[in-house]
Amino acid sequence: MLDYKKIKQDFPILNTMMNGKPLVFLDSAASSQKPLKVIEAFEDFYRCRNANIHRGAYRLSYEATDLYEMTRTKVKEFLNAKEPEEIIFTRNTTEGINLIAYSYAMKFLKEGDEILVSEMEHHSNLVPWMIVAEKKNLKLKHIPLTEDLQYDYEKIENLLTEKVKIISVAHMSNAIGTIHDIKKIGEYAKKINAVFVVDGAQGASHLEVNVQDIGCDFYVLSAHKMLGPTGVGVLYGRKEMLEKMDPFMGGGDMILTVWKDGFKPAPLPNKFEAGTPNIAGVVAFAVALDYLKSIGLKNIHKHEQDLLQYALSKLESIPYVKLFGTKDLSKRGGIISFLVDGVHPHDIGSVLDSEGIAIRAGHHCCEPLMKKLKIPGTARASLYLYNGYEDIEALVSGIQKVIDLFKVKKLVGVAK
Ligand code: ALA
Repeated sequence: MLDYKKIKQDFPILNTMMNGKPLVFLDSAASSQKPLKVIEAFEDFYRCRNANIHRGAYRLSYEATDLYEMTRTKVKEFLNAKEPEEIIFTRNTTEGINLIAYSYAMKFLKEGDEILVSEMEHHSNLVPWMIVAEKKNLKLKHIPLTEDLQYDYEKIENLLTEKVKIISVAHMSNAIGTIHDIKKIGEYAKKINAVFVVDGAQGASHLEVNVQDIGCDFYVLSAHKMLGPTGVGVLYGRKEMLEKMDPFMGGGDMILTVWKDGFKPAPLPNKFEAGTPNIAGVVAFAVALDYLKSIGLKNIHKHEQDLLQYALSKLESIPYVKLFGTKDLSKRGGIISFLVDGVHPHDIGSVLDSEGIAIRAGHHCCEPLMKKLKIPGTARASLYLYNGYEDIEALVSGIQKVIDLFKVKKLVGVAK
């Protein structure tokens, strides 16, 4: 078990109140909190180091450039990519997937080609593919799901034809916490020569990632879910792939040369980083990565699993509570998606909010999954390294309050 009480002290916001109650933060899957060191690095950049990168002919600019590029090297190490040039800074995971859709799929896929996704994906790993599919007459196919909401790895095999050009799946589901066997999916992709994209928005923040071992062509993530600032994301792409793709956006810093009616793109990684990026955010992200590394992703995952097990054992015994997600905890991250029978998830959220407990309620940007489950959405508590047993206790008492307040008497709709 991590020393979460000590860790909590590093996060100023976790020692504040919400609605007059001590804040119980259980919404890290949406965005994690930031340790003081990250906040200070952000502030320090603007106070003492602020200058544009790659452009200035003065020391401040050289130093800002060095800090920015140092983060690239840190991300490369964090993901075990081969070269820093394979790390592209974006705004977030969504932008990363859009970049692949526009710069790869739009260029290389042809009418009738297929993209394999699943109904469990986040909208950002669905809608960009839908847009490209519509423009190029492509087909989206869906990996079948098992009863307990895992990918059905046996049935995937039936979908593996030479028509499938891209397989794009999440490392871990943001809605129900399933951790997918992405190495296996990578092997399937290799078999049929398909490009393999991993949506790592929930993966990189909670699990150790080794892109070479996974064998993916692309892995995308968001810094703000990993203790870092908002507005910074990463697209890892295998060099060979990035090199043959067209730029996503045109503008400053992404060109080698421009003449009256044409341009030559810059080499990697600049080719994909048009315009002034979130320099302070990228610099502060390096500090977040150091923090995560100092605790260790394996330890973080183990901590979340211990808390998850504790939470599920408590919640399973409460009548009227319906839990979603696999019971095989070896395939599950720290996400507790639930409903209280007869109560709308937003009402659950409001009651918990009044108790100082922050959760997310709704479809979690996974409408197809909610439609498949025939529910409007769920209430979702999500865990991170700074959560502890007292947070679970608070959640359980809050849910009890929901039940008392709404006087839930019988199971309606989904059976437990
Ligand atoms: N994708 C984020 C979530 O799951 C915003 O809440």
